[in-house]
Amino acid sequence: MRSSSSSFRARIAAALLASAATVGALLTAAAPAAHAADTPLRDLGAAKGKVIGTAVTGSKLTGTYGDIAGTQFGSLTPGNAMKWGSVEPTQGTFNWAEADQIVAFAQAHNQQVRGHTLVWHSQNPGWLTNGSWTSAQLSTLLQNHIDTEVGRYKGRIAAWDVVNEPFNEDGTYRSTLWYNGLGADYIATALTRARAADPAAKLYINDYNVEGVNAKSTALYNLVKSLKERGVPIDGVGLQAHLILGQVPSTLQQNIQRFADLGVDVAITELDIRMTLPSDSTKLAQQKADYKAVTAACVAVARCVNFTVWGFTDSDSWVESTFPGQGAATPYDANYAPKPAYYGISEALGGTTTPPPTGACTAAYSVGSQWNTGFTGNVTISCSGASLSSWRVSWTYGAGQQITQAWNATCTQSGAAVSCQNASYNGTVPDGGSVSFGFNASWSGSNPVPTVTLG
Ligand code: XIL
Repeated sequence: MRSSSSSFRARIAAALLASAATVGALLTAAAPAAHAADTPLRDLGAAKGKVIGTAVTGSKLTGTYGDIAGTQFGSLTPGNAMKWGSVEPTQGTFNWAEADQIVAFAQAHNQQVRGHTLVWHSQNPGWLTNGSWTSAQLSTLLQNHIDTEVGRYKGRIAAWDVVNEPFNEDGTYRSTLWYNGLGADYIATALTRARAADPAAKLYINDYNVEGVNAKSTALYNLVKSLKERGVPIDGVGLQAHLILGQVPSTLQQNIQRFADLGVDVAITELDIRMTLPSDSTKLAQQKADYKAVTAACVAVARCVNFTVWGFTDSDSWVESTFPGQGAATPYDANYAPKPAYYGISEALGGTTTPPPTGACTAAYSVGSQWNTGFTGNVTISCSGASLSSWRVSWTYGAGQQITQAWNATCTQSGAAVSCQNASYNGTVPDGGSVSFGFNASWSGSNPVPTVTLG
């Protein structure tokens, strides 16, 4: 019994080795994933004097997400990690872990950080919003918060969104903890305090629905003008730009220009362009045009210094959970394939479009979990405006990675060259659909993401 069971195990082991060897024997050529083939957005932006940024989630900064965040973007904004509710959930007890991680990642990738955000009505800790404070106490809390957070990252933050969303749509001040307790001058107080805590950081006021010329953006304009006249430190305005498909304001460039003419920088701080789901090739083409228009407006004004998307992938966007039925708002799909919108940004920055951004099927490679010697990979083939009845995806490993096992595809590897073709049951990829396959592989030293070719 024992010997037959151990010989059974031996046969299994031999069979596994044989199949690994077979995988190692077969083979074909490889080529590039769309996002890897093009000049990174950060380089295109730099050539135009623009820093191209993205909001990020710290816990996701590994694998393909980290690879794209690190290579494509020259600026990171913590999506939530620097908000008051994140950093001081209990009064006097601080949690800097995610913010520190993002700042360290940015430094390692030669990126700027936009600090977001110090003074806001939202995502504050419960102890702060539920407390009852005198004006003097509120002022002290505000100033201590700014001293602590800005001081912690002194010298490492390019720009702070010091005050976020101070206005109502009609241009009156929003009724908030701060406005109600301290009056409109909480803004000047916060800016002055932030300047003292880190004289090198650019100080911004940031808001939404201030992209075009309208009552709200005019209120912001008048505020900035008066702050400058009073000698209050203000370096820039952030236009969040949470936009709706087909609704880029026609006065966007004019509005950016009028702020520039006031003597402040302008940043597009939180761009996303949402559509009613599901997406289709027509909507994606409109979205490309919209992204291109926003990018072009920033390119046209020298003082538009930073262009940041609020999450670069549809898998890391606030839109679907915030606007029911809306989504697909970012430049990469949920499988990290660049969408037409990516090429809209790229083209407005002077880049070239490869491959054709519409009516195509694309393959995107991503690393799932990774441990010291092995990793799990995934390839997703997505079609939009096109379809497939069979497929083959090829790539070349750059660092000795070796596939040991694949599922939902037949993969062969010869030397560095990998070729995977559909299984009998998943050759069809419909227009608007996708198919994925996975594999296990070994690695050592490094595990760079290869460029993949769909043929
Ligand atoms: C959003 C984050 O992306 C979400 O994860 C969070 O649940 C809510 O806040 N304007 C801002 C950002 O200034 O801080 C908001 O970020 C989106 C709207």
